Amino acid sequence: MPSRFELADYDRAADFVRVQACRHAARLAQRGPIGLVLGSGLNALAQSIGDPVVIPYESIPHFPTSTVTGHEGRLIVGALAGQMVMAMQGRFHLYEGYSAAEVTFPIRVMRRLGVDRLILTNAAGGLNPEFSAGELMLIVDHLNMVGMAGHNPLIGPNIGSFGTRFPSMTDPYAAPMRRLALETAAELKITLRQGVYAYLAGPSFETPAEVRFLRRAGADAVGMSTVPEALVGVHAGMQVLAISTITNVAIDRLDTDLDTDHEEVMETGQRVVPILTSLLTGILERL
Ligand code: HPA
Repeated sequence: MPSRFELADYDRAADFVRVQACRHAARLAQRGPIGLVLGSGLNALAQSIGDPVVIPYESIPHFPTSTVTGHEGRLIVGALAGQMVMAMQGRFHLYEGYSAAEVTFPIRVMRRLGVDRLILTNAAGGLNPEFSAGELMLIVDHLNMVGMAGHNPLIGPNIGSFGTRFPSMTDPYAAPMRRLALETAAELKITLRQGVYAYLAGPSFETPAEVRFLRRAGADAVGMSTVPEALVGVHAGMQVLAISTITNVAIDRLDTDLDTDHEEVMETGQRVVPILTSLLTGILERL
């Protein structure tokens, strides 16, 4: 399992996707497509992509394959809300055993294919006591707990064709993209919370002490994805937008009857799909 890749590896994968999606070549060349990473259960959105070229991950050189229930494994190139999109149906996580380089491999492939705007979605546990399960949260900033522990995907020789050795992270989720998301939500009368996302490796959910710790550290939601992709995207000059579905309220006390489980996460995620779909479609229409 490679812990890092070279530019030629990303380009081999990008060339493969370019050949598969050749009927979209003219539109792909016009203006970079918009990259979409669809978290668990956003299959309906993936299915509404028009004139789709569907590329299974296992066919793409160097691509990892997805192992979690509810995470499909295909790249879809096509039209959505008037935009050319390149959508990952299913993503990779550290907890599956992939390296940070593998988790973010597809983002760099997208970059080589001209993607300069990236929309990330995920499921997250709510830490902010004002948030309820089933709400959407615009990620305005993050706490990279995994990166702080030495697993930043940018560790290793810097590939200058993507970006600089020490990328700035003062505005990781680009202000114009955030503004557009908030305006779209307001127009569509969708409640869109704003908050800081804490990234943990998982796969275990947080203990009550960890929940209280993260809340005190300034996090509003917690999850096991998105941050590596955002880092690699920002490093490569992409404008990144990220939206969490708060699928459950993180439990901050011992000795309650409450519990967190994957089924609850998936069920709430499913319930919110229509709202998230209208928000994402609205954002794409306005981009
Ligand atoms: N914790 C971590 N990741 C998650 C959660 C959670 O409570 N819910 C959905 N993803």
